[in-house]
Amino acid sequence: MSAIPFDFSGSVAIVTGGSSGIGEITALMLAKAGADVVIAGRKEAPLETAAENISAASGRRCIAIPADVREQDQAQQLVERTVEQCGRIDVVINNAGKGYHAPLRTMSAEVWQNDIALNLNAAFYCAQAALPHLIASGRGAVVNISSLAGINGTMGVGAYSSAKAGLQMLTRVAAAEWGPRGVRVNCVAPGMIATEKAQAGWAKVGFDAQGACEAFPLRRPGRPEEVAAAVLFLASEAASYITGETLTVAGGPQLKGMIDV
Ligand SMILES: NC(=O)c1ccc[n+]([C@@H]2O[C@H](COP(=O)([O-])OP(=O)(O)OC[C@H]3O[C@@H](n4cnc5c(N)ncnc54)[C@H](OP(=O)(O)O)[C@@H]3O)[C@@H](O)[C@H]2O)c1
Repeated sequence: MSAIPFDFSGSVAIVTGGSSGIGEITALMLAKAGADVVIAGRKEAPLETAAENISAASGRRCIAIPADVREQDQAQQLVERTVEQCGRIDVVINNAGKGYHAPLRTMSAEVWQNDIALNLNAAFYCAQAALPHLIASGRGAVVNISSLAGINGTMGVGAYSSAKAGLQMLTRVAAAEWGPRGVRVNCVAPGMIATEKAQAGWAKVGFDAQGACEAFPLRRPGRPEEVAAAVLFLASEAASYITGETLTVAGGPQLKGMIDV
């Protein structure tokens, strides 16, 4: 991607799930746009590697803080350690997420609760813990990463779809409650994005991603940096009058008609 048209100089951003895929490229692009970045994830080794790579490529600080953001106390510690090390928080990107494949008729309560914990609860815990610092920032912004599954619903990932829909409502209510305190909250809903892990997951269940893309006007899976660009826009001052919105990044709407066009 060419020059990044947003300025995050002097800002500190937390990106959950920053060790791979959309989160990693978002953290890199924030750093290239001038932010110091904290990335969080559970596995220390890939997190450290990503932080080193982001620092080297951007010349900015990128700090790896291991955390399982499904746990409220770990989300709180992530925020506290960020403030200890970086002094402030201006941006929170709630990106950590994943969906487990199981039909609703046999899905266990454990699977259901885990998908809700990761894809919905974690965003609430991180944003709420960071809120005093986002207010103090004067330009605080949260961007939640939902999914097209949270708009249309996807069979086989019922818990994930439900959590991602809930995340869009969390975005709206938090935006309404926190807007008067100067904090914006928005959401990005990616469609099929060809991250390394997503591609491996598609292969594992025999999903024909390119074939499925024929239903979308742009006829291809998205690239992680195309999602990150939308995230940076919503987190930036360029979106200073936008809050409570969900921006779909999915190659266009799937429309059916009655005649050939
Ligand atoms: N790729 C797509 O096609 C697509 C489409 C729609 C929406 N999305 C959404 O976009 C976001 C990123 O997706 P991606 O494909 O880029 O994911 P990814 O490559 O699988 O990366 C997921 C990241 O989340 C971290 N993570 C997982 N569980 C965590 C936990 N409990 N606590 C903290 N971090 C955790 C992972 O690190 P650890 O495993 O080390 O914790 C990793 O850094 C997700 O919210 C996903 O639902 C993706």
